[in-house]
Amino acid sequence: MAEGIKARVASDDEREATRVAANEGKVAAGDATFWFSVGESSEDTNVGGAHRDDEVSRPDEEDGEKGKADDRRYIAPLEAVPTEGTIRCVASGGSREVEFICRREGEAVFGWRNSCPHEPEVRLDPGWGAEVCEGQIVCHEHGARFEGGEGLCTYGPCRGKVLDPIDVEVQDETVYLTDERFEACWRL
Ligand code: FES
Repeated sequence: MAEGIKARVASDDEREATRVAANEGKVAAGDATFWFSVGESSEDTNVGGAHRDDEVSRPDEEDGEKGKADDRRYIAPLEAVPTEGTIRCVASGGSREVEFICRREGEAVFGWRNSCPHEPEVRLDPGWGAEVCEGQIVCHEHGARFEGGEGLCTYGPCRGKVLDPIDVEVQDETVYLTDERFEACWRL
């Protein structure tokens, strides 16, 4: 999905839209949630399903991942998390939702809020993966560079600051959200 798609959902008093580059994910507004899953061929395409949160179901997972994917803290198989880019997710806890990004370094995966410390409204990953250069995430707005691990800014207008961490962990070749502030997450 080179160009991504736009997914929208509206509840009685709230509406939300997001542009997504991944093949599956969800977007939520109020108590309504829209799940989508898009395959490579037209027979395989399955966009849809708006549900109330109390009757949400996930799209089928491939390669025996369904059991893991049913875990509300499941993020992705380890091999799906890029080194030369990032994936976007949302962490949810109570009424709070935070968009975050994950990047793989060797066998480890790190998560940070999808926000640049220089101008917090700027997303490091705008929807198609953050730029990575020489092992560092590069902010597309003013060029700040961030190391892995703690996400220390080594260059640019916010040099010396660090990215806001979101705890994730690799267990059995699978990446999970482990941040105690949140109860669930999903890919964008
Ligand atoms: S907004 Fe990221 S470097 Fe300015």
